[in-house]
Amino acid sequence: MSAPGPPASAAELTALARARELALRGRGRVSPNPLVGAVILRDGETVAEGWHEGPGLPHAEAMALAAAGDAARGATVVCTLEPCSHHGRTPPCSDALIAAGVRRVVIGVLDPLERGRAQGREVLAAAGLEVAVAPEEEGRLCAEMNSPFVTWAMTGLPEVTLKMATSLDGKIATASGESRWISGPASRELVHRWRADSDAVAVGIGTALADDPSLTARDIEGPVRQPARVVFDATARLPLDSVLVSGAHGEHPVIVLASETAPADRVAALTAAGVDVVPLAGGPAERIAGGLRVLADLGVQSVFVEGGAGLAAALVAAGAVDRIAWFLAPMLIGGAGAPSALGGEGAATLALAPRLRDLTAVRVGEDVLVSGRLRPLPGTV
Ligand SMILES: NC(=O)c1ccc[n+]([C@@H]2O[C@H](COP(=O)([O-])OP(=O)(O)OC[C@H]3O[C@@H](n4cnc5c(N)ncnc54)[C@H](OP(=O)(O)O)[C@@H]3O)[C@@H](O)[C@H]2O)c1
Repeated sequence: MSAPGPPASAAELTALARARELALRGRGRVSPNPLVGAVILRDGETVAEGWHEGPGLPHAEAMALAAAGDAARGATVVCTLEPCSHHGRTPPCSDALIAAGVRRVVIGVLDPLERGRAQGREVLAAAGLEVAVAPEEEGRLCAEMNSPFVTWAMTGLPEVTLKMATSLDGKIATASGESRWISGPASRELVHRWRADSDAVAVGIGTALADDPSLTARDIEGPVRQPARVVFDATARLPLDSVLVSGAHGEHPVIVLASETAPADRVAALTAAGVDVVPLAGGPAERIAGGLRVLADLGVQSVFVEGGAGLAAALVAAGAVDRIAWFLAPMLIGGAGAPSALGGEGAATLALAPRLRDLTAVRVGEDVLVSGRLRPLPGTV
């Protein structure tokens, strides 16, 4: 273990909060890398800032060191994530901090990918730098900011967010199937932002057939990186003339997670149209787990699931949902024949019904957005 330096001071914790703000500038751009921000302090004053802008670009610490120049010598570097110790697309940040003559490093949260490596904090301590890790509550904020990266690094699976929009009485469509639009424009704009922040957006084949969605991120400000688009479609029924298949030859893949028993002619036709058809073994539950593993292996750290009722219920039943984003629209649809948000068999007893933790509720336009976690972020309890 590295010899800990004195605990983080109030000024350093303020700098850490600023470093988190800086890190968020990379949102939607850095995956599969983490969001990282760094602030360099001398005598409690900020002399330089940095953040990671994307794969292949300098890490936050390197950017801040370059901005600080000679002022880095003897300074304190406050960073949201443990500095890396390995040669990736860029050289190790721990070496850069040592070479710059930094005296002290304050780390927001340890890097799960540093397990089994030299470990940045150990390298720094071995070189005589003071190293302090922020208190648990601060570390949790730094980890939560990077929850897809942390989940993927610690479990080998992407973080799954289930987004649904329902009437107050929990319906996702009328009895006749009309479902557009239940949520209001402000909610839909937010959804486009979240699509751009996600590595993949997924729906079940029922939704693909009913709504013919494009699942692209549109009409939002700032840099937009299009997610991969994924359909859970056991028998490869996705129509060749659907919007999704029509856009499948573009830069961003359309992936159909099918059963290995899907009809060969359907698989061949979709493949010829540019769709990546992934054959998965087993029944529905195995295919959910297998599909998520395949996505993780492709580098997908975050999957934003947009329904419908069948897929949502299957994911919840499989325990595969990490986070919930639920828009409640101020309308009452009613009708015994109108579908509700979760299909399937549902919980057998109230005691078995999954409950949300870390619950928040905010107004978005006329809707209320209820968010929370179904699973704790790995590494936190
Ligand atoms: N308000 C909202 O938030 C919202 C969001 C989305 C959709 N919707 C509405 O919901 C309706 C569609 O819902 P839906 O339930 O019919 O369709 P769905 O959930 O989109 O798709 C269900 C289908 O997914 C397939 N699937 C593939 N792998 C599966 C697995 N492991 N487990 C379970 N299913 C799997 C199954 O078909 P195969 O076995 O053939 O693969 C199943 O029939 C539409 O009316 C749509 O407009 C509303």
